[in-house]
Amino acid sequence: MKNLTLILLVFLSVQTILSQEKKIWDETETEKTERLAWWTHDRFGMFIHWGLYAQPARHEWVKRKEKISDEDYQKYFEMFDPDLYNPTEWAKKAKAAGMKYAVITTKHHEGFCMFDSEYTDYDVMNTPYGKDIIKEWVEAFRAEGLGIGFYYSLIDWHHPDFTIGKRHSIQTAQTDKEYAALNKNRDMAKYREYMRNQVTEILTNYGKVDILWLDFSYPGKNGKGREEWGSVELLKLVRELQPGIIVNDRLDLKDYKGGWDFTTPEQFKVDKWPEYNGQKIPWETCQTFSGSWGYYRDEHSWKDNKQLLVLLIESVSKGGNLLLNVGPTARGTFDYRADAALNGMGEWMKYNSPSIYGCTQAPEAFVAPANSILTYHPEKNRLYVHLLDYPMQNFLMPGYAGKVKYARFLHDASEIKMGKKHGAWGNDGTNAEDLNLKLPVTKPHVEIPVIELFLED
Ligand code: GLC
Repeated sequence: MKNLTLILLVFLSVQTILSQEKKIWDETETEKTERLAWWTHDRFGMFIHWGLYAQPARHEWVKRKEKISDEDYQKYFEMFDPDLYNPTEWAKKAKAAGMKYAVITTKHHEGFCMFDSEYTDYDVMNTPYGKDIIKEWVEAFRAEGLGIGFYYSLIDWHHPDFTIGKRHSIQTAQTDKEYAALNKNRDMAKYREYMRNQVTEILTNYGKVDILWLDFSYPGKNGKGREEWGSVELLKLVRELQPGIIVNDRLDLKDYKGGWDFTTPEQFKVDKWPEYNGQKIPWETCQTFSGSWGYYRDEHSWKDNKQLLVLLIESVSKGGNLLLNVGPTARGTFDYRADAALNGMGEWMKYNSPSIYGCTQAPEAFVAPANSILTYHPEKNRLYVHLLDYPMQNFLMPGYAGKVKYARFLHDASEIKMGKKHGAWGNDGTNAEDLNLKLPVTKPHVEIPVIELFLED
């Protein structure tokens, strides 16, 4: 008996030690859901990748892709002067597109800081522009009622203490010996301290910050992860400075309780609601209009209006958010193609946003009819059917009979008659469980028409 108690005690203390080790902070699932509630509700945000790389206009990774040295990259620093920068205009565009929050790069991998930092000269204050871009941005976006978020790159190709390894812009080392030689005078401990100081700056000097995006980890040989970043300490600091903040999952702390808030599938569509340990988790896909995050003049693979709308609708239909990126030019403006894309989305959102805000995956009992995507608003108990390929007059909803009180188009609130009979033929394959909607032959003047179904209680 004594032995058993002893074993139990040892077991319990090992458990406590383990759980202490793997925890950033204490929060129940309900508390977390409440903290994230505004973000989950809003569904749609703008990502902004802006830095010195807007000048070469050949991808935000240009320094690495073209193996550009610090000396050669310096000209972009010396010339940075976005004379047309007007963040109020940006905020209005984001809002008109239906976006509810925005996340901007305060520092990207190139190491250049868009904010006024005490800890480096490599910031916007020392460029010809000479003003704190982030301060102006925060004020403008807040004034328009948008949530604000900061992206901060963990990677830094400019800092002299950031050790050279995988994914650095300096790519001259192959062997361990060569890496060691390159890193002789570099000290990650000093870089960690630098990051902590800068994260403190961005989370202290601009009032309440709603979202933090730390980017990114690649653990393993010559890589960087939780050890190199000091992720645990860094995130504890973040939580202390801004307890309400929502943080992404790129600190390499996936197995820590409180080590992340949402997952971030990038540039691909998830096939179902992402899970961790068998649980559905909050998620946001980040996507570009074309092939790069930073402004890329000669890149032409722009997604069209319908593709972008489908991205948004599909994300919501699987319980997720969309963070859609704009890479402003070095003058401080949005490219005409970005403007066109935002306008197209705004036109649709103006009438159809009720199928996005506050919506989520439909209950399992409802199956999406052919060529459609479903979203669902739990409080209103309404189902939204997005018609990707506009059907003919008779639109068959399999298994929906008796479940719907009223049907209408969302964009103009015009009634859609409901019936059982499918077409004029007697034996047309319909059965008693199916519902038939009588749609107009002419497709409504909407890129993706939405049917709003008021469900029976
Ligand atoms: C990747 C890229 C980066 C971009 C980010 C957005 O991590 O390194 O350029 O900022 O994705 O999610």
